[in-house]
Amino acid sequence: MNENYKEAFEKTRVAGLIAAGALDEVAKIIKPGIRTNEIDNLCYEYLNDHGAYSAPLFYRGFPKSCCTSANHVVCHGIPSDKVLKEGDIVNVDVTALKNHWHGDTSRTFEIGEVSIKAQKLIKTTYNAMMNAIKIIKDDVCLGDIGAEIQNYVEARGFSVVQDFCGHGIGQKFHEEPNVLHYGKKGTGEKVKTGMIFTIEPMINMGKYETKTLIDGWTAVTKDKSLSAQFEHTIGVTKDGCEIFTLSKN
Ligand code: MF3
Ligand code: CO
Ligand code: CO
Repeated sequence: MNENYKEAFEKTRVAGLIAAGALDEVAKIIKPGIRTNEIDNLCYEYLNDHGAYSAPLFYRGFPKSCCTSANHVVCHGIPSDKVLKEGDIVNVDVTALKNHWHGDTSRTFEIGEVSIKAQKLIKTTYNAMMNAIKIIKDDVCLGDIGAEIQNYVEARGFSVVQDFCGHGIGQKFHEEPNVLHYGKKGTGEKVKTGMIFTIEPMINMGKYETKTLIDGWTAVTKDKSLSAQFEHTIGVTKDGCEIFTLSKN
């Protein structure tokens, strides 16, 4: 946002790498029979071992160190003694807070072998995020990003969740702007060199509507259809963007 953005990028790079590293560790242990609490413990320990805090832990009362959102859970699933079984899909969302800066990333994992349709949903969600990231550079408008995702996803028969969006991030976990994953080309605010925000599309196999359970957190698809999500934290540059939450593997 200003000439000093290089320092913000450097700090976010460090936090982003830690968050991505936690997910790399999750990838190694996730399998049928694991409890989502075990994933949460791993994330807590990994962040701690890397001198970082979990931003979600105690954020507005959230009780755990990561979000684990299985099957028809869209986002903000709370780790518990729930056992993941063959054929499930689960998104794990980790946000590291390191030296006062945040890195926020999530991936949807397949538990054992999952249905072809679930595989297609996951691939489509990942590609939608990456396609959007590829068009980001100085002066692109937010509507272009939303349209890129929405057009790609709807052409494949899936729907884009509208109740949750990407967000500016930095020394605050969530800040301006809201980054919608749907929209119209040529509309909305223009992104500028130095801006840091997340792209985190939630894509449903059925309809786009969601509802939040009485725990106040868990968001699910209204029609109980499967939902997938990926998230990266990126920084805008003159000719493109840097992804801060890429896996080192
Ligand atoms: N990491 C989520 C995001 O992508 C936010 C989780 S907030 C929590 O913005 F409190 F639910 F953890
Ligand atoms: Co986020
Ligand atoms: Co997140």
